[in-house]
Amino acid sequence: MKISFSKLAVPETGVVVIGAVEDGKLTPAGQELDKKLKGAVARAIKAAPRFKGKKEQSLDVLAPSGKIDRVLVVGLGKAKEIEARDLQAAGGQVYAGLANRGYAAATVLVDAPKGSPFSGDEMAAEMAFGARLRSYRFDKYRTKEEADDKPSLKTLRMLCDSPGKAREAFGIRDRVADGVFLTRDLVSEPANVLYPETLAEHAKALTELGVDVEIMTKAQMEKLGMGALLGVAQGSIREPRLVVMQWQGAPNSGGRKGGAKGTESGPVAFIGKGVTFDTGGISIKPSGGMEDMKWDMGGAGVVIGLMKALAGRAAKVNAVGIVGLVENMPSGTAQRPGDIVTSMSGQTIEVLNTDAEGRLVLADAVWYCKERFKPRFMVDLATLTGAIIICLGSEKAGMFANDDELADRLFEAGEAVGEGVWRLPLSDSYDKLIRSDAADMKNIGDGRGAGSIVGAQFIQRFVDDTPWAHLDIAGVTWSKKNTPTVPKGGTAFGVRLLDRLVADYYEDKG
Ligand code: BES
Ligand code: MN
Ligand code: ZN
Repeated sequence: MKISFSKLAVPETGVVVIGAVEDGKLTPAGQELDKKLKGAVARAIKAAPRFKGKKEQSLDVLAPSGKIDRVLVVGLGKAKEIEARDLQAAGGQVYAGLANRGYAAATVLVDAPKGSPFSGDEMAAEMAFGARLRSYRFDKYRTKEEADDKPSLKTLRMLCDSPGKAREAFGIRDRVADGVFLTRDLVSEPANVLYPETLAEHAKALTELGVDVEIMTKAQMEKLGMGALLGVAQGSIREPRLVVMQWQGAPNSGGRKGGAKGTESGPVAFIGKGVTFDTGGISIKPSGGMEDMKWDMGGAGVVIGLMKALAGRAAKVNAVGIVGLVENMPSGTAQRPGDIVTSMSGQTIEVLNTDAEGRLVLADAVWYCKERFKPRFMVDLATLTGAIIICLGSEKAGMFANDDELADRLFEAGEAVGEGVWRLPLSDSYDKLIRSDAADMKNIGDGRGAGSIVGAQFIQRFVDDTPWAHLDIAGVTWSKKNTPTVPKGGTAFGVRLLDRLVADYYEDKG
């Protein structure tokens, strides 16, 4: 879909979108349009008693004149309380409401209602961002779809007072949307197409945007002693990969090559679990629903999409993205329950359940990241546990952290973009649950309790004192329902959150 910005003017024809605040009062531009329509919109609002201009409400007015085909009134809620995410949601609703109705274009009149904290151009940029986010569709394998079943909307014209400003503000958000779309594509691809080698190629493509991308092969990982990651990979005919992406958007600040003595001067680092398919291995999963495990590379998908967003908008930050890519398969060469592997850190792990594989992959990826880059902080993302879905459902991701400042910043960034995270505890008493009689630790807990915390405690054994947070995104990576800015399917939850974290706290100024 093409999104354009031009000067506010009341159109004579076509499909027009206008805004209303609580209690159904139109914005000035909407009122002007309504005047031309001889009050048809106001009459429609009166005739629809439950339409009050609240958030998430909308009202369709068909053929209010001979020339205007349709007016869509979107509710913005109370003017004073409008937030960026409400505007994005409104934009997403506009797209959803008009995309499949046969119109090729629609015009959105955007002006600030009285009391709004946003100017018209800011509103236009946010609404356009929301519309673009909602317009995502993974349809490359649908070869027989009828034209009438595909979205018809090709152009969204945003009209506002300062279109130049709106275009510029949208440009940055549009690059973030590019990252989101890449992540959604990657999690949507099936595992016969997307496996470690091919996923690594998608990361490699970021070179075009100025990201430095290294792809490590199995032999190189063997040399480094990554026995935890390699143990997971050994059952599959697909070779594992470890991909290191570096974006140097702040070449003069610390952390250019990794801070010599760590933290403050180092780059920010993001690490993703990239299990391109998780059968469970020898501890095999039940077949029902196993197809979902194609998106067990969701953490890696987010890290790759995030690097695309940061590079695309030329973020003034030095960022490292690392993804550990493996396929977890049962076979004659697969890891067995009871096997003991030695991680790159030197710590040994008794693998009592081959389905608790994500933490094994992260153990080596996180350790490698910490050792090589001495990062300012590390955030890892993983579809790690079914238990986090029991705990938080699909509304929020689980967050674990050894650093309160990082945790608070992640929380704030999540609230701002509508990708919420909720902190859960870590402590020595939970760490005890992974003590092993045979090795330094085991990869599952003692009983069935605290599954997500146990997973986080395991990863923590590989972070030392680097500020670190772990996001368990198993419940939020794939959505079964549409929301205003996220169509059902791969959500890319985490890309906008981490982009916001970087933008708010870690970019050079000026
Ligand atoms: N990839 C799964 C977790 C998962 C489950 C993600 C459902 C998305 C939806 C992970 O590798 C796994 O199998 N975890 C086990 C851990 C257990 C064996 C300790 C789980 O959650 O059952
Ligand atoms: Mn598993
Ligand atoms: Zn898994």
